[in-house]
Amino acid sequence: MSYAMAMTKVSASILSADFSRLGEEMKRLEASGSDWAHVDVMDGMFVPNITIGPSVIKAIRKCARMPFDVHLMIQRPERYINDFIKAGADYLTVHPEADGDPLGAMRKIADAGVGAGISINPETEVEVLDKYLDKADLVLVMTVHPGFGGQSFIPSGLDKVRYVRKWADEHNPKLEISVDGGINRSTGAECVRAGATVLAAGSALFGLEDMSPEIKIWQGFGPDP
Ligand code: DX5
Ligand code: ZN
Repeated sequence: MSYAMAMTKVSASILSADFSRLGEEMKRLEASGSDWAHVDVMDGMFVPNITIGPSVIKAIRKCARMPFDVHLMIQRPERYINDFIKAGADYLTVHPEADGDPLGAMRKIADAGVGAGISINPETEVEVLDKYLDKADLVLVMTVHPGFGGQSFIPSGLDKVRYVRKWADEHNPKLEISVDGGINRSTGAECVRAGATVLAAGSALFGLEDMSPEIKIWQGFGPDP
C-alpha cells in the first residue's frame, strides 16, 4: 500500500464488539484491515462503567496479531502496568486526571519498551499535557466524556489536536495523535485535517456488516496541505 493510500491509522474500539463472541470479533477486525485494536479498560471509579482487565486482553491476544492500543480509564494506573504489559498491550495510555502517579506509570510503560500514551478528558485544558508530551509516544484526545460508546463528538477536541500537532511538528513528528469518541467519517476527516494520525472508533465501525470499505476510506484521510 502506498503512503498516499494509508495516511491515517484506524484503531477500532472493541467496546462496541459483541462480547459474547469476542474472539471471532477480533478476527473480523483484523480481516477488515483495522491498523490497531483499541481496548477500553474501565474500573467503575475513574469512569462510571466497568469493562475488561488483563485476563481478557491476554485471551484475545491469541486471536489477532494487530497492535493493541489499550486505554486505561482507571485510578492509580501504576498498580496494573506490568499486568497489562504481560497481557500483550502494545500501547498503554493513562489519564492525568486519574489519582496516583500517571507520570510514573508512563515511565514504567516506556521502560518495558511499550508505547506510552497520555489522554485528556473533554473538560481538561490542553496545557495539562505539557509535562507529559516529551515522555509520550501517543496522545489521545477524548472527544466524548469517557465511559460509554455511542456518544456525540465534542468539537472542542479539534483545537487540542491542533495544539498537540504543533508541538509534535516542532519536537517529535513521530508522535501518534489519536482521537476517541464520536468518530465517524465526517468527524474523523475533520480530526485528521487538524493533525490527528489515529482514529479510535467503536459504534461507527462495529455496526457495519463489513467494516473494511469504511476503514479504507478513513485510512485515506490526509492532513491539510
Ligand atoms: C469511551 C471510549 C471509546 C469508545 C468510543 O470512553 O474511550 O473508545 O469506545 O466509542 P464511539 O466510537 O462509539 O464513540
Ligand atoms: Zn477509548
